[in-house]
Amino acid sequence: MLKNIKTYFPIFEKYPDLAYLDSAATTQRPKSVNEAINQFNSFENANIHRGVYDLSNSATKKFEQAREKVARYIGSSNPKTIAFTSGTTHSINIIAYSFLKSTLNKGDNIVITLLDHHANFIPWQMIAQEKGAELRVVPINKKGDLDITSLGKMLDEKTKILSLNHISNSLGTVNDIHEIIDLGHKKNIPVMIDAAQSVAYYDLDILTFNYDFLAFSGHKMFAPFGTGVLYVAEKWIKSITPYNYGGGIIKNVSAEETTFSDYPFNIEAGTPNISGVMGLSSAIDFINTFDKAEMRQHISDVTHYCIEQLSTINDVKIIGTPEKRSGIVSFVVKDIHPHDVASFLNQDNIAVRAGMHCTQPLLMYLETPATVRVSFSIYNDRQEVDRLKASLVALIKFWT
Ligand SMILES: Cc1ncc(COP(=O)(O)O)c(C=O)c1O
Repeated sequence: MLKNIKTYFPIFEKYPDLAYLDSAATTQRPKSVNEAINQFNSFENANIHRGVYDLSNSATKKFEQAREKVARYIGSSNPKTIAFTSGTTHSINIIAYSFLKSTLNKGDNIVITLLDHHANFIPWQMIAQEKGAELRVVPINKKGDLDITSLGKMLDEKTKILSLNHISNSLGTVNDIHEIIDLGHKKNIPVMIDAAQSVAYYDLDILTFNYDFLAFSGHKMFAPFGTGVLYVAEKWIKSITPYNYGGGIIKNVSAEETTFSDYPFNIEAGTPNISGVMGLSSAIDFINTFDKAEMRQHISDVTHYCIEQLSTINDVKIIGTPEKRSGIVSFVVKDIHPHDVASFLNQDNIAVRAGMHCTQPLLMYLETPATVRVSFSIYNDRQEVDRLKASLVALIKFWT
């Protein structure tokens, strides 16, 4: 099924020699997704939840059908557990400022991990500072795996939320969220999962994992920028109050007061990214044509081949050797700055990321100011890894 996979993606028609190794930053968009957006914009465009004419009714219907599809995608039988947001960052901020803010008090604590992206770090840090609460950061071991014993000890009766990523965007660590969610629930602590890096390739079935909140971005699952999802478990729905005000979220407005709709509509103030949601819906159809295990197997094969090949280059040091790894590999090359490495690779049409990957606390702990990061998706292959290796060898030769 993954044979000729590149033909689904117009970008590789335009740039047949592009080795796009930056899918952790954003995945490429399949033709079908672009067409779904174009179809809506060209022939179905109308605002939703407002009009009584046919076009508007039809747009509303498709938007709500997309909500149902997203719910099914994560195994939720209730579409009203799903809110559309602009991305993972937005979804996490909603839980921090709409769910947690009113109940967080001085002396409480919030638990996150050293592997977390700034999107799952700074909102909690800000709200903790504002409320006089403590931000506890679960450490990692030398391999780049979470220290689960410490995590267990950090959770106590004052912990108001545990929030962590499923997959580290820096080291590729795949966290055992099943075990971690259980640890939280044993102490009655709600758990939020940042699934930005896993949602395209992993089954995140709510019945299996039982998370309380789930956040992800469309653009990391073949959908357009500016689309995202927040899932809120039914038991918490009443605790989600508006935090951003405007049209579309109200029951009644008078000069004296306003009453609000229930979640999810109460946090979708203003006109949402309707055409983007059509693209997200189409991206789910695209993903559903594949077997997720086959997707992961393919990515794992390319990733392990990459690790094997990079390990043969003396001057390359791979950062992190987690027990379970996704399609992400971070490394450094001698004393060459990662930005110089990435620029050199760019001359060979190899697109990689260089920097801190929005995980500055993690890189500070690793005493590595920056890394080069390659991240694979279903359209990558071993030949691209061979090109990466050849280019790195040429760079090292050039540099010495
Ligand atoms: C693990 C993780 N969490 C959160 C984010 C933030 O996602 P977005 O910028 O789409 O909101 C990213 C983006 O790279 C990520 O990798």
